Formats: sequence, structure tokens, C-alpha cells
Amino acid sequence: MKIIIINGPNLNLLGKREPQIYGSESFEDYFNLLKPRFPQVDLTYFQSNIEGELIDKLHEVGFTFDGVILNAAAYTHTSVGLGDAVKAIATPVVEVHISNTHQREEFRQVSYIAPVAKGVILGFGMQSYDLAIQSFLL
Ligand code: DQA
Repeated sequence: MKIIIINGPNLNLLGKREPQIYGSESFEDYFNLLKPRFPQVDLTYFQSNIEGELIDKLHEVGFTFDGVILNAAAYTHTSVGLGDAVKAIATPVVEVHISNTHQREEFRQVSYIAPVAKGVILGFGMQSYDLAIQSFLL
């Protein structure tokens, strides 16, 4: 089973960025612990701060991979293009957020990904990614 985690803008700063919201662990450190927990999954990771690169990556994996775990970060709330890309591909996409966006500002209540995603997992900290992988193994 091939699954990719795609992280959007500012998530390269996890561990340093607003630790009271996003925790103090870098994504690389978390990923290195996560990967061996799912030996049956060929798990890869991609991060970009650039909307078009995220769309290109969805196109690249979206007809061959078994699952995409997408934390589009701020683009979740703004990007019609990313929503269209999720709709365009064949691979199911699970939307993930580290924080519970529903407890935060009103602009974070909107998602262009959720209506075209297989499901949404949010608010469990970094464990949201872990739960998203598990959702593909059910
Ligand atoms: C986030 C929530 C978004 O609203 C925010 O813009 C992020 C991170 C999360 O994982 O909690 O950058 O996607």
C-alpha cells in the first residue's frame, strides 16, 4: 500500500512555529517515528509552501497511489485550485489538521478540501496523521 503525506505552507516550521498550537516536535522527527509503526505501508512525505507544487504533487501521485493524507494548511481555506485537484485525481484523499480548526478563527471554518475528501481528521495534534493512515487500513 502506497500512501503519501502532503503538507502545505509553513508546516516546514513545525516544532518552531506557534508551539502552543502545533507542538514542539518537527515533522521530520514525527515522521521518523511514524514510518516504522506501519511496516505494511510504503509511506512517503512531501512538503511545499507553493500552491502549484502541491497541485503538481497531487497530479503525480493521484492515479497510482492508494492514499493521500493532505494537510493543505492555510490553502485549505483559500484554494479552489487544490480542491479541484483533489476532485480530479483517482486516489482518495484524507484531509488532516493538527489543530482543531473549528475552535479557531472563523476563516478556518471553511475548507475547499473537505467536500471532495474521503474524510477529515483534525484536532489530535500530530496524531491526526497517524489516525489518517489507520483510516486507510480499515
Ligand atoms: C493547520 C490549520 C490551518 O488553519 C493553518 O493555516 C495551518 C495548520 C493545522 O494543521 O492545524 O497552517 O492546517
